[in-house]
Amino acid sequence: MSRLEGKVAIITGAANGIGLEAARIFTREGAKVVIADFNEASGKEAEEAIPGVTFIQVDVSDRESVGRMVEKTDSEFGRIDILINNAGITRDSMLSKMTADQFQQVINVNLTGVFHCTQAVLPYMAEQGKGKIINTSSVTGTYGNVGQTNYAAAKAGVIGMTKTWAKELARKGINVNAVAPGFTETAMVAEVPEKVIEKMKAQVPMGRLGKPEDIANAYLFLASDESDYVNGHVLHVDGGIMM
Ligand code: CAA
Ligand code: NAI
Repeated sequence: MSRLEGKVAIITGAANGIGLEAARIFTREGAKVVIADFNEASGKEAEEAIPGVTFIQVDVSDRESVGRMVEKTDSEFGRIDILINNAGITRDSMLSKMTADQFQQVINVNLTGVFHCTQAVLPYMAEQGKGKIINTSSVTGTYGNVGQTNYAAAKAGVIGMTKTWAKELARKGINVNAVAPGFTETAMVAEVPEKVIEKMKAQVPMGRLGKPEDIANAYLFLASDESDYVNGHVLHVDGGIMM
């Protein structure tokens, strides 16, 4: 049986990487998927590569853009069951060199963007009396990481919002959980110097980086009815990097 039959899912940042893999898996499991991404070229490619998905361009850091994306989803599909707040960026730099702009850009997308998207879908899920919100944190959000002051702040903030919303929204039938991936093979990690990657790999008991499907399968569990009694949880999908 398909695990997401008849569900409508918005996945932000799904034109690439982890989100793209999630779009593939969710479609296979019977969901109607909206790829909500800033990158128009990749979004259109994804639409061609995965039959049935819909690309809607959005900048999650722009409240009005998010509002338009959610209205379009509603007018096309008439409901919103799942939101995966997966869009994210890095602007890595040592604290001594990080500009205020680098700090703010990451906060705007990785933290404020999650707030905008969740607030925008809330009325639809509340009216349905059911919904699943999955926020993407990171190993950096719980343990910190050299060069990631901005990103660590945002990803730790995502955990705080997840737990707050899990308490606020449970009575409306909305589950809110987070996934905290370890280093995963996508374009985001391709920018990291090789010596840093080697250090990271050495810390993973499983001895390898994550693959997009490792993370997307965790999204699937938290988006499906199988996780109906899981709320406010941070699911670490990182090969046991730090225990
Ligand atoms: N962990 C451990 N050591 C690190 C490190 C890290 N993440 N990042 C840098 N270092 C070390 C370097 O190896 C170097 O050590 P040595 O002096 O012994 O050679 C030292 O810190 C200084 O680094 P650089 O010489 O590279 O300094 P720089 O100013 O030129 O660049 C930087 C700084 C931009 C932060 C660069 O080092 C860098 O890109 N580091 C990687 C940061 C990182 O891990 N980003 C994760 C991106 S993926 C992601 O964000 C997904 C997720 O959720 C995990
Ligand atoms: P990626 O760089 O492959 O994909 C990110 C997507 O987000 C891109 O398609 C990009 O266009 C989109 N995006 C960026 N800014 C946007 C905005 N303002 N509005 C809408 N879309 C925007 O990255 P990846 O690796 O797939 O990351 C997905 C999520 O997983 C991110 O939240 C990231 O922080 C998180 N993560 C990634 C890890 C990794 O090692 N790759 C580890 C831990 C967390």
